[in-house]
Amino acid sequence: MKSRYDNEMELNFLSKSNNEAFARITVAAFAAQLDPTVEELADIKTAVSEAVTNCIVHAYEDTQGIIKLRATLLDNELEIEISDSGKGIEDIELARKPLYTTKGNLERSGMGFTIMESFMDQVEIHSIVGIGTKIVMKKKIKKEQSEEKIEEQENALID
Ligand SMILES: Nc1ncnc2c1ncn2[C@@H]1O[C@H](COP(=O)(O)OP(=O)(O)OP(=O)(O)O)[C@@H](O)[C@H]1O
Ligand SMILES: [Mg+2]
Repeated sequence: MKSRYDNEMELNFLSKSNNEAFARITVAAFAAQLDPTVEELADIKTAVSEAVTNCIVHAYEDTQGIIKLRATLLDNELEIEISDSGKGIEDIELARKPLYTTKGNLERSGMGFTIMESFMDQVEIHSIVGIGTKIVMKKKIKKEQSEEKIEEQENALID
């Protein structure tokens, strides 16, 4: 099979809270091929963490389901898809708004989508109530490389 991407990966895992760290570290390791800065890597990890947490706490709530993570690289762009087969989002535009949350009583601040949007270049939300949600995020990684950066990256990956 010939891929139209330079590289791609896919992972399915259960909506357990300890898989949030697993997902963010995996994407960071995959994205490292583009030689991101420590800051870019941190942004990617935070965005993945927000999206995966949403699947765990909102999509599947008290149940458990499968979260699908797909990442691709093309030229210097990383694309990440995070999808669930959970309850879906009724009003996507409202959900995107800063401070909007349906779980205000549970220490949610309604900032997840705002954080994803500020750390990534583009965030798409596709959702159908009762079917599930798919988040597609893109980020371009600037090209520059130095010995110092490689070392920084290696340290950042194990955080
Ligand atoms: N995967 C999902 N499935 C169903 N609903 C979702 C999903 N992701 C987000 N939502 C809905 O969108 C709202 C906004 O999400 P957002 O991540 O911005 O805030 P939050 O998760 O409520 O709070 P925070 O992320 O700050 O802890 C959520 O309260 C929830 O109603
Ligand atoms: Mg959230």
